[in-house]
Amino acid sequence: MDLDVVILAAGKGTRMRSKLPKVLHPMAGKPMLLHVLDAAQALRARTLGVVVGHGADIVRDRVDAVCPGVTWVHQAEQLGTGHAVQEAMKVVPQDGVVLVLYGDVPLVSTDTLNSAVAQAQAGNVGLVTAEMADPAQLGRIVRDAEGAILAIVEFKDADAAQRQINEINSGIMAIPGPHLMGWLDRLNTDNAQGELYLTDIIAMAVNDAVSVVAVHATPAEVTGVNDRVQLAEVERIYQQQQAAALMRAGVTMADPSRVDIRGQVTAGEDCFLDINVVLEGEVSLGHGVRIGAGAVISNASLGDNTEVHPHTVVEGATVAANCALGPFARIRPNTVLEDGVKIGNFVETKKSHLGPGTKASHLAYLGDATFGKDCNIGAGAITANYDGVNKFPTNAGDNVFVGTNVTMVAPLNLKDAAFLAAGSTVTKVVEAGSLAVARGRQKNKANWPRPDGKTPANGVADKDLDQDND
Ligand code: UD1
Ligand code: CA
Repeated sequence: MDLDVVILAAGKGTRMRSKLPKVLHPMAGKPMLLHVLDAAQALRARTLGVVVGHGADIVRDRVDAVCPGVTWVHQAEQLGTGHAVQEAMKVVPQDGVVLVLYGDVPLVSTDTLNSAVAQAQAGNVGLVTAEMADPAQLGRIVRDAEGAILAIVEFKDADAAQRQINEINSGIMAIPGPHLMGWLDRLNTDNAQGELYLTDIIAMAVNDAVSVVAVHATPAEVTGVNDRVQLAEVERIYQQQQAAALMRAGVTMADPSRVDIRGQVTAGEDCFLDINVVLEGEVSLGHGVRIGAGAVISNASLGDNTEVHPHTVVEGATVAANCALGPFARIRPNTVLEDGVKIGNFVETKKSHLGPGTKASHLAYLGDATFGKDCNIGAGAITANYDGVNKFPTNAGDNVFVGTNVTMVAPLNLKDAAFLAAGSTVTKVVEAGSLAVARGRQKNKANWPRPDGKTPANGVADKDLDQDND
């Protein structure tokens, strides 16, 4: 039978105390609902239905932008989980297996979902449950003396004995569609909360001699987020999982509890991540990459044996092997650094390409610039690439030497082995092998009376500068 997924996400999430709909609160930098959709997409379902109500437009817009193909269901009033599924089944096909997920249970694994779906494919109800030391207010799984599931009892409807039960309803279940339709028709609001409970279908299944089979999950996997404390809990669990996976793939971490991964990271062998490293978006690390404390790497690839020193920010860059970046460097989008490039402290690059072996060791800004191999860019050198309206390129060949405090006024061409003297403001092409000096000449005045604060007009005056040195 085909699989159709229904994700419940219409609730207000009052306890988040937020203007943002609950399911859009991020886990690892991405809305919880998108994590649930990822897990669902891995199942290759025919339909991905999402039931929205509170903040429906915001949720829809956010999801559609990155995950097209969702079937949206609008539940105007939140009359309970059973009502939400009733609304969904008006647009979701009724002849397949229906998998019900919650938009605020973001850690659920594809394996667990597959097990639940397999039960429904076999004609049973697959119900995801977990044993919890503190089951709090979650729905309890009631079993008979032989251990067969009889019903789910909501905490508010449970008697004292039922509240002692540690096995809880995660809310996630897979149901054969035709059965589901019959059971949804028979739901009523005859309960403590006056809601249409989806959970009531379990007792109906038992009555109709349809087996209900528990699929056991860990408590962590089915943790639901109702407030920001639980949001932080799922974040930590998720981060531990990511860190463990990277360590198993050959990455050493100074402290796995102090590395955050907000995206997809691939890594070669023998990489090292120091504390407080943040990896965001698509990050690819070669073999032997070392990342120092407090570095943030977003959507970037770092080649073999490249070292990122502490407190360096790399975003949208392609960095080849054997490079050294930072400490305190900022590598901005569309930077390409070839083998063995060295970027030192307080250097910023943007949309720039540096050839192999080129160095900018301190305090420089390179924007819209291309340098060939083995160039040296001195401290304080900058490209003046912007006139307030347009950006202009700086193109340099190989072996170019840019002295300290040089301003390269773009557009500018610097041919192979050009040498720019310190302090120059360079506005014109520098031919191959040429020296460019573009600065005021030094003038010395012998026996010059220093300002003493008493003699009026005793200071550096133009007339002093007009005199020759000798
Ligand atoms: C529900 C289950 C409970 C289970 C718990 C697990 C029912 C009756 N109870 O309780 O057995 O242990 O989840 O977390 O199902 N939603 C809608 N529309 C509605 C109501 C809810 O879309 O009308 C969505 C919510 O946004 C949420 C999910 O369904 O994502 C669960 O709703 P919630 O009110 O949190 O259910 P619980 O009372 O926690
Ligand atoms: Ca809940």
